[in-house]
This record gives sequence, structure tokens and C-alpha cells, in this order.
Amino acid sequence: MSNFDKINLILKLEKKEEILYHNAMCGIFGYIGEKNTLQICLKGLKQLEYRGYDSAGIAGIKNNNLIFCKTSGKIFALEKKIEKQNLELDIAIAHTRWATHGKPDEKNAHPHFDTHLSLGVVHNGIIENYAILKDFLKNKNIKFSTETDTEVIAQLISYNYEKYKNNLYLTVHESLKLLKGSFAIALIHKDHPNIILAAARESPLAIGFIDNKNEILISSDPNAFIGHNLNVFYLRNDEIALLSKKSIKTYTNQKKLIEKKTSLLEGKNQTFSKEGFDHFLLKEIFEQPITIQKAMLGNISEDFGTAYFEGLKFSSTELMAIKHIIIIACGTSWHAAYIGASLLEDKARILTTAEIASEFRFKNPIISEETLIIAISQSGETADTLSAVKEAKAKGAKILGICNVKNSTLTREAHSCIYLNAGPEISVCSSKAFTSQITILSLFTLLMARLRHFTKEDGQKFLSELKKIPKIINQVLEKQKEIKKISIKYSKYKNFFFIGRKYMYASCLEAALKLKEISYLNATSYPAGELKHGPIALINKNLPVIAFCSNKQTYDKTLNNLMELKAREAPILAIAPNNAKEILQIADDIIFIPNTIDELAIFPTTIVGQLFAYNIAKAIGIKDIDQPRNLAKSVTVE
Ligand code: F6R
Repeated sequence: MSNFDKINLILKLEKKEEILYHNAMCGIFGYIGEKNTLQICLKGLKQLEYRGYDSAGIAGIKNNNLIFCKTSGKIFALEKKIEKQNLELDIAIAHTRWATHGKPDEKNAHPHFDTHLSLGVVHNGIIENYAILKDFLKNKNIKFSTETDTEVIAQLISYNYEKYKNNLYLTVHESLKLLKGSFAIALIHKDHPNIILAAARESPLAIGFIDNKNEILISSDPNAFIGHNLNVFYLRNDEIALLSKKSIKTYTNQKKLIEKKTSLLEGKNQTFSKEGFDHFLLKEIFEQPITIQKAMLGNISEDFGTAYFEGLKFSSTELMAIKHIIIIACGTSWHAAYIGASLLEDKARILTTAEIASEFRFKNPIISEETLIIAISQSGETADTLSAVKEAKAKGAKILGICNVKNSTLTREAHSCIYLNAGPEISVCSSKAFTSQITILSLFTLLMARLRHFTKEDGQKFLSELKKIPKIINQVLEKQKEIKKISIKYSKYKNFFFIGRKYMYASCLEAALKLKEISYLNATSYPAGELKHGPIALINKNLPVIAFCSNKQTYDKTLNNLMELKAREAPILAIAPNNAKEILQIADDIIFIPNTIDELAIFPTTIVGQLFAYNIAKAIGIKDIDQPRNLAKSVTVE
């Protein structure tokens, strides 16, 4: 029995491996060309910084030697170390790692190597059977120096290299067959000093090149190609690309040489600036009157009181046939999904549910030809959402993506896509993408309602309210000083309850998540009516309640709930519409906001929630507001 057969046998017999350490949400960058390799790679890594990471590294070939430099912490630390080492590289692969399991230290940073330091690998994704492979290789006396799954790839390829007579492509092809899980990798080998080998399975990897192929760039995120005009293609389904100057050869998983379709990417140099704001988050909060307008731009027909979407490839007949909608998303995008589901059911009268993507795919969901799946993702790279999309597609569903990042995986997986056009969201904590998602969902609801029972006048009325939102948000932003003052007062507390009813419950969910993410304080959100069913036991004078009272339909009931809390000495901060004077008798503090219809009150209340979280984080001295600890912008593991 060959070694491969043995491993295959183990794979078949395996039950459940425990994944102890792996790397995720990471960023890959690679370069072959005539320019300064180090500078280009560092610039590429910096473009990936927004994703969140905790260590970084680079490896390349010089004079037939494999040389590397790695650090824990940020890219500027790597830059300094590179300078100190006087590093020079001809070709290189580089990486930002976001640790999920295992320490974010220098040892676990990528690239990873085989014992002989003959090859280096950078990797995104998870090798699910790495423990079994590691045991197998350890039994062959191969010594491992990190806890990562990625080192298994390096050691496995190195172990097989001789067997395939030093044919790097064949070795990688055969070795990848033994891996379970998802991956995008870039690999260099000192025997092949001019080659970078790239491969991908269920994890994005883009390759960009200039016309004469004198320059080739690799990245897990085409955002890193900013500043280069390139022909770009993506690897998928175990495809392997052999890249060297002037030559790009791409093979299918059946070893067939193929020509990949490319698209032109005009990577105009783009520098991200805080434009005078202390943080990208604050800048992005203040951008919202404009980003909401951008989400509406070109998608509205006032004459017909409806919405149009250029990117929507479903015909009116197809849309009219939809009887059931499932919206899938994660985190903040799921909060938008929750609002979208309420809107679609309330206004368009279509049975709609919002499903958390990581749960959805294990539910054996009921999908018929009358079902539409809407997948919402700012990044378009969230693994949970993408897996849910694949599950829905396997059941024959039509997929509509709502996404901010062009060319992201979701935009390729969905049958049709509507873009947010919110511009890059640099702060890891999402703000403007959320309000743009709600804008698109409001417009989509309008379209679906008009295709059903909404009259032209109903549509026009809704549109006129929606068009007022940017102005209303400006009025809330003008209250920044007032909100800051109140936030400072509340920054002495360690725990918070956020409550609201109907559309305001989503405001609570989102406001509480913002506070948790950037201030590291405990915040829990409840539909206001639920408190008396248990959580009220926790109420005392040290547990402030932030109450969103901007839903007219449930306003009186919310006031009753606040009375119950006041009786138990909870400090109360209410966010209420300008005319809600009754609240003055109940709440300790009030932030009055402009009136709008119930369905759209989520917009102004969200801005208050964002500013409240930001100001509390500042007040308690949190430094890393744009890149909160433990968080990543694109969550590319399940
Ligand atoms: C919170 C936040 C996350 C994301 C979630 C989904 O501020 O940013 O909760 O919303 O990880 O990300 P996307 O929308 O990129 O799929």
C-alpha cells in the first residue's frame, strides 16, 4: 500500500478530528515582477489590513535561497524587521494572519515551511483533516514547529516531492487531493526560484497580470491590487496556477491546461483617509447621509412610485411568482435581514424570514420554486453566508445577493446582485453598510409591494418618506455633542440592556452589538415585552436600560415597560421622536430624534446607537476602535 493509499484509507476511516489551531480571515499577497518586490508586497498587505489580523509575514527567493521575515502584531512591525534584516527578495509571498485557534505569535504567523526550509506556503482557510495528516507525517519523523494546519500543507508537499521526481506541480496536485477543507494557497520552492504556485478550493484567490505578463500579482482579495491595472481571474475548485515571469499556466483538478477568462481591473490608486476624523468608524458614521443617497441613486422611479435595480436579473413575472423569501446573513448584516423580513412581510405581504447563515445550512430548509433567497453581506466573503448560499443553490433556490464589495465571492455565487455602492468600509465595525443594506431592502420591498397590492400613490408616499432619511440623519449627526455628553455619563456602567419593540428591536440588536464590539462592554438586547419574562430579575440601579421608543404602533406598550423598569431603579436613557413628551416623566435622559414613519425609524435610531457606542469607547479610553481586538472584517471561516 502506498503512502497516499494509506492516507486515503485514514481519511475514509476518520471520524471527527478536533481542529485545534488554524488560520482564518487572513490575507494572501504575492508578486512576480521587475519592481521592488518587498515594497509591492508590503503595500499589498497594507491594503488587506482592513480585514483585521494579528501577525504578518513574507517569504521569497534570493540567490536560490528561501528567506523569510515574520512578526506578531502589525505590518509596520514587519516593515521595521525587514529593514533591520536588510531583506531582498526576487519573488515573494506574503500574508496577514488572523488567529482563531492558537496564539497570534510570530511562530504561528505565515509563511510556513517544511523542515528543510525548501518551500514556503501562505494559506487562507482550514484544513479540516490536518490532525490526521500531521500524525501521519510525524510517524515519518517529520518535526513540526508550529500548531497551525498550514504547516501540514508545507510538510506534506515536501514529503511527497521526491516521489513525484521533483515535479512541483504534480506534487502539489497529488498532495492537495489529500486535504479536506477549504484553502487558498501560494507556494514558493527554492528549486524553482522563478515560480509561485497558487491553488484554491472554496476560498477566494485572484491572480492579476499586466498584458505582457512581466508582472503577476496574487491576492485573496482583489482590493489589494489597488494601484495596478491588471487582467484578473480567480482560481476555483482545486485549480492550480503555475506562475512565472511571462507565463501563467492554469490546470483544472483533472490536470487539464485551461485558458481562464479574465476581466479588466482598473486599480486606480486609492488611499484611505480619515479626512480629519479620529477614526474611520466616525468618518463612516458621518458618511451615511451620502451613502444612503448613493444606495438610492438610479434605483427609484418617482413617477411610478416604485424601485428599479439595474443588477436585478429576475423578470417582473419571476418576482411576482415569489411567495416565500428567506434572507440569510450574519452579524450586522443579519440585523439588516431582520428589518428586511419585517418590511417584506408588513408591506409586500410576502412570507419572509431572516435566518442566521451559520444555522440555516443545517436546518434542511424548505425551499420551493416560489422561494427567493436573499443573501446579505457587506464583504461578500463571509464563509457562513457563502455556505448557506451553496446549500440553498443545491436545493434549487434563486439567489439574490446584496453586497458592497464588487467582484467578491457572493457576487459571483448569486444569480443576481444588488450593490450597496457605499464605498470601502474600513472600520471593522460596520456602520454605513448597515444603513445602505436597509435602504436597498426598503426599495426592494417597495418593488415587491408595487408588483402586488401597493398603488402608485402608496409607492410615492413611501418613497417621499425614504427620500427624507438623509436629511433626518444629518439632524441626528448634529446631535453628536449632546450624544457624547450622555455617553460619557453612561460610560461608568459595565452592563447595559437595550430594549425596543417591532422595528425598534432591530435598532437594539444593532446598537448593542456596536457597543460590545468597540467598547468591550456587556450589552444585551431584548424586545421590550420580553423583560418581564425573566431578564427583569437583573434590573437594579447599576444596570442602565437604553430604550428605543420610535415605533408609534408600540409606543404606549414600550412606555409601560419603562415604568416597570423605573420602579426597579434602572437608569433609563430613551431615544424617542421629538413629539414624545410623555417620556420626560419616565426617562433619566432622552435623546430626541426627528419623526419618520415606523418602517424607517431604524435609520435615525441606528445613528444614535452608533454614536453612543463610539463615544463610550472613546470615553473609556479604547484605542483600537477601527480594529477591535479579536475581530476581522471578512470572516472567512465557518
Ligand atoms: C459588526 C460586523 C459583523 C458583520 C458580519 C457579517 O459590526 O461587521 O457582524 O456584519 O461579520 O459580515 P458581512 O456583512 O461582510 O457578511
